[in-house]
Amino acid sequence: MSASPQGSAAPKKVTPLTFREKKAAGQPITMLTGTDLPMAQALDEAGLDSVLVGDSLGMVVLGYETTLPVTMDEMLHHCRAVARGTRRALCIGDMPFLSYQVSEEEAVRNAGRFLQEGGMEAVKLEGGRERLTAVKAVIGAGIPVMGHLGLTPQSVHMLGGFRPQARTAEAARRLLEDALVLEEAGCFSIVLESIPARLAALVSKRLPIPTIGIGAGAGCDGQVLVTHDLLGMFDRFTPRFVRQYADLHDEMVRAFRAYKCDVEAHRFPADEHTIDMAEEEWDELLRSLPGA
Ligand code: KIV
Repeated sequence: MSASPQGSAAPKKVTPLTFREKKAAGQPITMLTGTDLPMAQALDEAGLDSVLVGDSLGMVVLGYETTLPVTMDEMLHHCRAVARGTRRALCIGDMPFLSYQVSEEEAVRNAGRFLQEGGMEAVKLEGGRERLTAVKAVIGAGIPVMGHLGLTPQSVHMLGGFRPQARTAEAARRLLEDALVLEEAGCFSIVLESIPARLAALVSKRLPIPTIGIGAGAGCDGQVLVTHDLLGMFDRFTPRFVRQYADLHDEMVRAFRAYKCDVEAHRFPADEHTIDMAEEEWDELLRSLPGA
């Protein structure tokens, strides 16, 4: 291990290559979303392989109904905070709606901003064959790309809502073809969201690159969840595929109520939270005041 500039040992950095190695070794890849510095620090310390700055932050942090209003600037703002809190995990920035669909040039420029301005090391974008030219152009610029198939939230209106995908044989075959197209284009990994577990397992077996599942069963090479769902911080809607590991919303309400009660009852701040002046300084102040 080499020493970091601060002197502490630098952990071995996770890269897209690590994803491949973990798949080859049959080791599950762990990924969660991150939106800010403390969360990124906790994810990194917990040893997660990857932090995705997902555009789901538009819903769970910014309060939008869908991910569609999320802008490049909003994404980059959160990416920078996450990058500052991460030393080991691979940081992936999620390209927002219309940042890669309009032209190859815009796709490359915006993907580049995630690395140059956001401190990310890879980008994710949604879609299969219809995004092939954008995917190729971004990879051609030397930027690692993660694909995303199945329930692609930026197409929520086209899909008729946030609903499971690829449940017919025809749609499943199309998804498998898309996965192969993305792999051939050079994607280092693909997110499979809300598709039947048997299909996700089949796609994972057929692809040399790792799949990362969300609502796609245990047969994927890795798993991702939206951290706010896992922590119970987003109470508007919790998808069926989420396992909630904490109830931070209730915990926050409990803490805020306790603080409010303490302030109202004059229990906070107490002596130990209070600074004072030396007696002589205080006396001098009082002497110097008009009318002393
Ligand atoms: O935006 C996001 O958080 C995502 C994950 C659900 C994969 O795309």
